[in-house]
Amino acid sequence: MQNFNFYTPTEIVFGRGAEKEAGRMASKYKGSRVLVVYGGQSAVKSGLIGTIEQELDDAGISYETLPGVKPNPRLSLAREGVKKAIAFKADLILAVGGGSVIDTAKSVAIGAAHPETDIWDFWTGKVKKPETALPIGVVLTIAAAGSETSDSVVLTNDETGKKMGYGGDFIRPKFALMDPELTCTLPKYQVACGVVDILMHTLERYFTPVVGNLLTDEIAEGLMRTITTVGKKAYENPADYDAMSEVMWCGSLSHNGLTGLGRGKDFSCHKLGHEISGMFDEAHGATLSAVWGSWARFAYKTDVPRFAKYGRQVWGIDEADDGQAAIKAIDCTEDFFRSLDMPTCIGELSIGVQPESVLRKMADSATMGDTVKQGCFKPMDAGDMFDIYRMANHK
Ligand code: NZQ
Ligand code: ZN
Repeated sequence: MQNFNFYTPTEIVFGRGAEKEAGRMASKYKGSRVLVVYGGQSAVKSGLIGTIEQELDDAGISYETLPGVKPNPRLSLAREGVKKAIAFKADLILAVGGGSVIDTAKSVAIGAAHPETDIWDFWTGKVKKPETALPIGVVLTIAAAGSETSDSVVLTNDETGKKMGYGGDFIRPKFALMDPELTCTLPKYQVACGVVDILMHTLERYFTPVVGNLLTDEIAEGLMRTITTVGKKAYENPADYDAMSEVMWCGSLSHNGLTGLGRGKDFSCHKLGHEISGMFDEAHGATLSAVWGSWARFAYKTDVPRFAKYGRQVWGIDEADDGQAAIKAIDCTEDFFRSLDMPTCIGELSIGVQPESVLRKMADSATMGDTVKQGCFKPMDAGDMFDIYRMANHK
């Protein structure tokens, strides 16, 4: 087992009506001037923004708003938010939405605490990693990214089309208000994208060079069994409160670090997916299901018994031969994606099959011009990434 630090400071308020705690929790974390960040329209339409504003009013908290966050959130809006937060003298950033809104809020929280620096300079490493950000609170409306408890933030630079993650413990939210009922209005496609992302956050921690961590394995396998069971139910009926509750809790625990303690993480499928989202604005979860099977077929021979264990523990595969069990595990995972109507190749994404020049460009970008390898299970250079994209590039 590798050494690890496990820091999960986020106070979770879970269950029906959790959003009504917005004023009390903002006050608890010293928010008196709050910037409320939200998305395109769902949170306004449902009346949630009205409820949050009322709660802040009742708690005597001043607020300003930053609406208009789009999926694959843009650097330009985050920059605008930084200016707004500084002008308003915000002391807490409240995200009302999903991963895109939370990541915009995290970016604003970093930028407002460092007004002298353009935030993208942190992402590119031009400027040393900061240790501070304004406190962040979350009212979660979609279970998927796990950003409500995670130490990461993902932005797309809309000038270059580069989508990149960044992070550190300093941006873990102080609190998250998680009412599963708020997610019952989600379109089925977004539920499916979320379920894929949640499964993937644990898969990307399950396949690393470190094996033998019994408790971490049990937690990871239990989470994957749960999300694949309840995820299907939630997809079939987003109004199923119990299924949406389980999915929501899986989402937070799948990406707060718990399922990979003592063995690090790989995240190469995320790198493959981010290039597709950055270039074509595809939904995050869909990019992951589109590439995972190709990645797995490319990588599984690195540790066949590990894939076999995944198949037996998560999918109940009753197959004595490790090689057969490993292949069945990959097939079961892709069948699961199909059962959610999610793509299992690039040709099934809305962009369709791509010319090889595009695949090469993405492989090159993901590896910073073939200067870094991605992942640790089977580290991949630009040529490997190109091969995986090519394997996935069919209908
Ligand atoms: O903009 P609105 O109108 O609110 O619509 C949103 C959006 O179109 C809609 N939606 C959200 N809650 C809803 C709802 N529609 C109806 N009812 C509700 N209750 O859902 C759409 C998708 O929202 P988004 O926030 O983009 O979804 P998600 O939570 O999947 O976040 C995806 C983003 O998070 C990043 C992804 O790369 C992507 O940019 N990630 C962030 C991570 C992190 N910070 O730790 C980790 C992840 O791996 C991921 O990379
Ligand atoms: Zn993800």
